Amino acid sequence: MQKIKNFYIKTFGCQMNVYDSQKIADIFIKMGYKPSISQFSADIILINTCHIREKAKQKLYSELGKIYKIKKKRILKNKTTFIVVAGCVAQAEGNEIFNRAQFVDLVVGSQSIQKIPQLIKKQILNIKKNKIQENLLNLDFTPKAKFDNLPKTKIFNQISSYLTIQEGCDKFCKFCVVPYTRGPEYSRPVIDIIKEAKNLIIKGTKEIIVLGQNVNAYHGKGLNKKEYNLGQLIYELGNIRGLERIRYMTAHPKDMHDDLYKAHRDVKQLMPFLHLPVQSGSNKILKAMNRNYTREEYIKIIEKIKYYKPNMAFSSDFIVGYPGETNNDFVDTLNLIDLVQYSQSFSFIYSPRPGTPAYGLKNNIKDSIKRKRLQILQEKLKFYQEKFNGNFLKKSLPILFTNFIKKEKYQSLGYSPYMQLVRIEKTKNLKGKIRSLKIKKAFYKSLEASNIF
Ligand code: SAH
Ligand code: SF4
Ligand code: F3S
Repeated sequence: MQKIKNFYIKTFGCQMNVYDSQKIADIFIKMGYKPSISQFSADIILINTCHIREKAKQKLYSELGKIYKIKKKRILKNKTTFIVVAGCVAQAEGNEIFNRAQFVDLVVGSQSIQKIPQLIKKQILNIKKNKIQENLLNLDFTPKAKFDNLPKTKIFNQISSYLTIQEGCDKFCKFCVVPYTRGPEYSRPVIDIIKEAKNLIIKGTKEIIVLGQNVNAYHGKGLNKKEYNLGQLIYELGNIRGLERIRYMTAHPKDMHDDLYKAHRDVKQLMPFLHLPVQSGSNKILKAMNRNYTREEYIKIIEKIKYYKPNMAFSSDFIVGYPGETNNDFVDTLNLIDLVQYSQSFSFIYSPRPGTPAYGLKNNIKDSIKRKRLQILQEKLKFYQEKFNGNFLKKSLPILFTNFIKKEKYQSLGYSPYMQLVRIEKTKNLKGKIRSLKIKKAFYKSLEASNIF
């Protein structure tokens, strides 16, 4: 096997997978490998996978099909390609991946990415000894070891950076794979989070989005050895010099707490935007899903946050076509959307996942009805998103610019406090700057600001 020189990472799934992929890139760079701009020229190809819906899983296998072709072509040029499957499909399917794709060299679950260097070294030795068939698999749940052993500093500078503070889930919603792919809840100590945040800021980060599958269930070892909740952690982050914006995701309605409401009132860097997935507006379906809150409790939470932060904007995730969802249940969801008027959202048709409690449930809803419900729901969500964006026409918004690109003309791209994507045309590079700009055009998914300062 030739000496490994470069790597290519392809990421599917949620922000936590993006964070893991960035850490894996840092691991590879520490090992002396360089990022490759294309998978065709990479000595290592790593796919970081998602298992949340059937479609997400299928993406792995269609991707592996393409990669197999690349691997075969490179063999003709006497080059080996080392293929790693990481993330949530790896965790859920393990050996099954080797059965379906024998050319994969290593399968490593989302909780053991810190072991990648030793696993790769071991497998390269295997290959040298011609023991190629002995594929390596590591699926340990060791979140503490993972975070303790990941590289501490980031190689690439980003204006807005993810920082995982909590991993795993103990909620066991009946439809969801996450408790099985990411394991039980684990919260990192506050001191480690603050260190990582400071390192990011030194590298140029202005905004930190703290992440967790249930980020507001965070309960890590705090300063003074007391346990901190997410609200308390955000107060600490608010004291870090140079950190201009703080966000968190994904929050669960059941885990909203007083310190967090108060942080929205007191910590000026905490942005007035909350992703609070409701899934359904029907109490019957919420119960069947094991979401552990009612529609009324959810509405109270929204009202309470607005009391502390009147200009708060909300987003959510929705599942339609869950087993037992009647037209009335669906209408309950539509009514809830009318009430909350979300500024943006994600919505999905229920996808039965093997291994979850809902998998065996009988679902009498026709596919055509599920698709119709999704379409009606998405039209409603679009209506409110356009309405929300339209509210800002001719008004000023402070934009944190995260990107500068050249299309036909130069564009600076950034985000408003409410997580709206904002573009300005024909500008100088504003990356890293916050500018208050007048909004001149509003679209469904973005805004355009005036380039006159
Ligand atoms: N922890 C978050 C959600 C994480 S998964 C929460 O509890 O809200 C992200 C989203 O994927 C979920 O909010 C849900 O809307 C969707 N999802 C999860 N499992 C699904 C399934 N089996 N079918 C369809 N959508 C699903
Ligand atoms: Fe999945 Fe529910 Fe946990 Fe969210 S809270 S990750 S939907 S089990
Ligand atoms: Fe997917 Fe795993 Fe995230 S299943 S949504 S990548 S936690």
